[in-house]
Amino acid sequence: MSNRPFRMFDHERDIKAVQRIWIECGWIDDEDEEKEIVSDFFRHGETEVGTIDGEAECSVHWTDGRIRYQDEVLDLGAVTAVTTSHVARKLGYAKVLTARSLARQFEAGKAISALGMFDQGFYDKVGYGSGPYENLVQFDPASLKVSYPFRPPKRITADDYKQVHKALCNRRKFHGAVDLHPAESVSFELRWTDKPFGLGYFDGPGGSLSHFIWGERKDEHGPYEISIRAYQTTEQLMELLALIKSLGDQISSFSTVEFGEFQLQDLISQPFRTRRGTSGGKHAQLLEACAFWQVRILDLQACLARTHLPGPGIRFNLELTDPVSGVLGGDMPWQGVAGDYVIDFGEESSAKPGREKGLPTLKASVNAFSRLWFGVRPASGLAITDDLHADGNLLKQLDVAVRLPKPHLGWDF
Ligand SMILES: CC(C)(COP(=O)(O)OP(=O)(O)OC[C@H]1O[C@@H](n2cnc3c(N)ncnc32)[C@H](O)[C@@H]1OP(=O)(O)O)[C@@H](O)C(=O)NCCC(=O)NCCS
Repeated sequence: MSNRPFRMFDHERDIKAVQRIWIECGWIDDEDEEKEIVSDFFRHGETEVGTIDGEAECSVHWTDGRIRYQDEVLDLGAVTAVTTSHVARKLGYAKVLTARSLARQFEAGKAISALGMFDQGFYDKVGYGSGPYENLVQFDPASLKVSYPFRPPKRITADDYKQVHKALCNRRKFHGAVDLHPAESVSFELRWTDKPFGLGYFDGPGGSLSHFIWGERKDEHGPYEISIRAYQTTEQLMELLALIKSLGDQISSFSTVEFGEFQLQDLISQPFRTRRGTSGGKHAQLLEACAFWQVRILDLQACLARTHLPGPGIRFNLELTDPVSGVLGGDMPWQGVAGDYVIDFGEESSAKPGREKGLPTLKASVNAFSRLWFGVRPASGLAITDDLHADGNLLKQLDVAVRLPKPHLGWDF
């Protein structure tokens, strides 16, 4: 074992130092209420800290989750907070502790890991690859072409976090959809929202929350930012849009990450005219794209065993590299997924260690292969910008074999 200055977080001993890190990072103010929210956050999930003179100066927190891969559900490790204080930057603490958390996620049975990134490049050093562009939209609620009848909603507060968590877990899900656990991870998001608003409907079994929107009110006239929402049926989605529209007499704009399964522009009246007329203003109608989350495979065999791809199967040798082994430096039993494999992609898929004579070869980093497997971009596109190499014929075959819907996590963390 190494004598690196890392140890598991102990709430009683370390929470004050971790709160100080969060203050230095500008994530919270030096106020009791905010410090208490952080204190509660660190009661759940798993955290390891890097120390100087025995004091925690860097902390990496991860929590339990699930992620959809088509109709399958995989165990997910979600890296939820990586922070280094002002006196410990550039020592490699954040990178090494993130890598160590990946080893623990694997030990806990997680097949894949995900996170929201502060920038692209840093987490690539431990094997993550970027997700696809998500659309960030801002629109005038009055311009929504929704005729669904308005029904008065109920108010939701941070105290309703268990209901909110359950509604999120029960939401309509597609490829890439994530759940985080325990419910307290949602409590943190709700309590951490500035000037919150929460509105929803309790149509579930036993009067439970079925569909809702939650977010931040900026000003009297908006923008209102929707950060969390869930629904189970198209009718419920339409009811939420009717609810948003009902606020249009007062609120000039709502912003949100697009819901994913439909194109919001279809529901906005005169979208180009409105865009011209509002351009440059606080309530401008906007559509921006940004890739802000990343994933990486932790257990290749487990991921491939849950992969079912229609169409012609394909078999090839994979030479996989994984930067995490260089970062872990032999400290943990899990050293990443680098190695030679024979991959079958098809209705039944698999990854078997070894090589088979006569098969075409794909060379890739785990970063790029995770993106290919998750459906972020086709192989031929990844071959242009990422560390993924094969002859043109194999790339073409991969483009045909791996045709997945665009993944969306649908849960911001
Ligand atoms: C991000 C953060 C945790 C990094 O902490 P750290 O302990 O200094 O990180 P490390 O020492 O492990 O790594 C720093 C290295 O990563 C590099 N790096 C940072 N961002 C990078 C990027 N986008 N692409 C490539 N490399 C990057 C740095 O240049 C530095 O390299 P060097 O050591 O060769 O100079 C720290 O800056 C921080 O706490 N920021 C505020 C909170 C935050 O945004 N956290 C991330 C949430 S997702």
